[in-house]
Amino acid sequence: LLAMTGAWDSSFPTFHFLLFFFVASTIFYLKWQNPWKLPDLPGPRVQLPPSSWTVDARGRLGNQMCQYATLYALAKLNGKQAVISPKMQKTLGHLFGVTLPVLTDRAALQIPWLSYWLEDRMREEYRHIPWNYIIFKGYPCSWTFYHHLRDEILREFSLHAKVREEAQAFLRQARKGQGSNLTFVGVHVRRGDYVRVMPQKWKGVVADRGYLEQALDWFRARHTNVVFVVTSDGMDWCQRNIDTSKGDVVFAKGWIRRSAVKDFALLTQCNHTVMTIGTFGFWAAYMAGGNTVYLANYTLPNSMFLDIFKPEAAFLPEDQP
Ligand SMILES: *[C@@H]1O[C@H](CO)[C@@H](O)[C@H](O)[C@H]1NC(C)=O
Ligand SMILES: *[C@@H]1O[C@H](CO)[C@@H](O)[C@H](O)[C@H]1NC(C)=O
Ligand SMILES: *[C@@H]1O[C@H](CO)[C@@H](O)[C@H](O)[C@H]1NC(C)=O
Repeated sequence: LLAMTGAWDSSFPTFHFLLFFFVASTIFYLKWQNPWKLPDLPGPRVQLPPSSWTVDARGRLGNQMCQYATLYALAKLNGKQAVISPKMQKTLGHLFGVTLPVLTDRAALQIPWLSYWLEDRMREEYRHIPWNYIIFKGYPCSWTFYHHLRDEILREFSLHAKVREEAQAFLRQARKGQGSNLTFVGVHVRRGDYVRVMPQKWKGVVADRGYLEQALDWFRARHTNVVFVVTSDGMDWCQRNIDTSKGDVVFAKGWIRRSAVKDFALLTQCNHTVMTIGTFGFWAAYMAGGNTVYLANYTLPNSMFLDIFKPEAAFLPEDQP
């Protein structure tokens, strides 16, 4: 474009200079923008593996678990080798003995990746993806990708012994003086940024005192000796708003220093789950098994949140009303 504007009338050398500039910048552009061009690295070129599928690690624990499980399932379905980034290994490896191999950043540089955007649910075309080097993008979070491999996924996400033992020790403490044959219900109350973002951005609500009361009563009506183990990123709110007068509520606070990892482990060791919103609670419930009570219809029907989030693809059919 630069070469076109008025350059035709100007003197010969200027035109040549501009032409040179145009060609040079095009070559530069093609060289650097073409994703299929392998970068010239010093040292011997490593042999490319026959296939290598990975996923862009985005968000925190819950989102990365979704991405891992989706990658695992799609690669298996298509007979390709799944690999994860060091970043994902770091997030998940803290808690679980995940088995997918880690591709170092240096090795990843030599692979001619193709970006592949995933929707938030399984589609027929995902069964026949022909390419050998893929990096999945998006925020897939749906059982429709991997629920048929539930046992394998749970094995991938089996807690490290130390983390599990710490959670069990907490439950043993909580059990004291509560009688025998206890049923533990993990309660995850997601607050943090959602308290602001849900109403302001997504035309939605957050779980309130009334929802939690109803959810806890649902379990009280079905089990004789129940203990609710409450975890939250807004514990002060929980302590002010969850009724403890029945003596069956324990806050995951003061026993162990709070961390998302410990909270997560604790929730998975409970028998059932009350969740509010978010992938963290979803995965805790998936791993705990049992029954899950979740907050339904938390946005207005015209919320853009429903464009990216499909309740029927997020919540297992057996948990839906
Ligand atoms: C233990 O609790 C479960 C669930 O609340 C109940 O189904 C079962 O009958 C109880 N068992 C005993 C021995 O009380
Ligand atoms: C409920 O969870 C506790 C703590 O993890 C466990 O010891 C117990 O076996 C579980 N009960 C059932 C019926 O799964
Ligand atoms: C949520 O909204 C849908 C559509 O308005 C309705 O069919 C469904 O019963 C609602 N679910 C609950 C649990 O209120």
